[in-house]
Amino acid sequence: MSDRRIAIFGLGYVGLPLIRACLAAGHDVIGFDVSRDVVTRLLSGQSHVDDVSDAEVKSWQERGFQATSRTRDLVDVDVYVICVPTPLAADSSPDLGAVIAATTDIAGHLDLARRPLVILESTTYPGTTEEIVKPILETSGGVAGVDFALAFSPERIDPGNKVWSFENTPKVVGGLTESCADQAAAFYSTITSEVVRTKGLKEAEMAKLLENTYRHVNIALVNELAKISDLLGIDIWDVIAAAETKPYGFQAFRPGPGVGGHCIPIDPNYLGHRVRTELGQSVRFIELAQEINASMPEYVVDRVEHLLGSHEVPLAGAEVLLLGVTYKPNIADLRESPSYDVVRGLRARGASVVFHDSYVDSWLVDGTEVAKATDLRAAAAHASCTVLLQSHDEYLQADALVDSTLLLDTQGRLRSARGLNGTRWTTM
Ligand SMILES: NC(=O)c1ccc[n+]([C@@H]2O[C@H](COP(=O)([O-])OP(=O)(O)OC[C@H]3O[C@@H](n4cnc5c(N)ncnc54)[C@H](O)[C@@H]3O)[C@@H](O)[C@H]2O)c1
Repeated sequence: MSDRRIAIFGLGYVGLPLIRACLAAGHDVIGFDVSRDVVTRLLSGQSHVDDVSDAEVKSWQERGFQATSRTRDLVDVDVYVICVPTPLAADSSPDLGAVIAATTDIAGHLDLARRPLVILESTTYPGTTEEIVKPILETSGGVAGVDFALAFSPERIDPGNKVWSFENTPKVVGGLTESCADQAAAFYSTITSEVVRTKGLKEAEMAKLLENTYRHVNIALVNELAKISDLLGIDIWDVIAAAETKPYGFQAFRPGPGVGGHCIPIDPNYLGHRVRTELGQSVRFIELAQEINASMPEYVVDRVEHLLGSHEVPLAGAEVLLLGVTYKPNIADLRESPSYDVVRGLRARGASVVFHDSYVDSWLVDGTEVAKATDLRAAAAHASCTVLLQSHDEYLQADALVDSTLLLDTQGRLRSARGLNGTRWTTM
């Protein structure tokens, strides 16, 4: 199944690594995105995604890669893969607008004579592929499972991960029918090292939600234990280091300023919504995890106030320097970053906020620009308190922060630096 024509819908964090893998396998690839800006940038050889370089994008053109915002360019397509966003609506319910729009575009162009395959990769609640995507595709006049194949395959991209990439991470696949699953598995086996088949569509959809809910819940557990340990005078980082020596039955999660990104703060809501609307029940673990993780930015502000207070500096009027405001280290993605709520909390208590982040050029919080520091050492020396939110590599270099007077390390990464002693430099 190589050299098929593949159309990838949604050219973002998920779509671009998929394009790379398809081109490497010898497929002919066309990328479709509603954003003309995204398409124009790709066509001029620019990547807007951390894990894909400009040089790679430039080399794609030599291999025939096309990008477009015009549905009429979608001709002779054998496989459609949908990687569009699945955000939350204002009331925190699933917003499937992009999935519906992409599916409608595909339905209008399905070339049934080619017996095409359509795969949804966007994270969503169990039932979406069969209840939402299938009926829209069938407006083409074709019958799913007969005239075209339909499958769901959750994406497992982890931006910034240097070990696990699209190519070497097992790919879960569920089909509407056995034959749909066979066709989707055959496609993915051309671009990934291992394909794992589920019983059906819902199992594949649910597998992704289990993975993300598992992280959400375990991060919340360790965040709650971090707060409790601080009150009890116990060093949570020492506890985790000891516990993770157990060779079985334990996986270490670490405290932090809260959860961010496109997945963990959002996806469990999709499951919660489905369970509420279908069963009239709540998923109590999800609700609790949300409550605890959402409380972490305010907890960071409490700890800053406490650290300053113990050195007789009031938070109101103090300058607080935030280091690393993206949602995880060494990437440029600000989506759902807990740093936004840290800024809100600090502003509400009268502090002035400055940030440093080499991945972020400028940063608006609630319409007001946060001042950006470019000279890290000078900014650290000037601030009343420095807060390490995301441990980008540059902050871990010896001497990077030596001039900070008071410092709160929310990630436990500077513990060995400069004799972190719990009075001037402290961890959460
Ligand atoms: N980013 C991650 O780390 C990650 C990991 C696993 C799963 N996912 C899931 O993958 C999906 C895509 O996420 P992403 O991070 O790649 O999003 P993204 O925002 O980086 O990219 C999505 C792209 O889709 C485009 N788009 C929107 N509507 C469209 C439409 N109707 N037709 C074509 N293109 C359209 C947008 O313009 C954007 O360029 C989401 O469901 C997300 O939950 C993301």
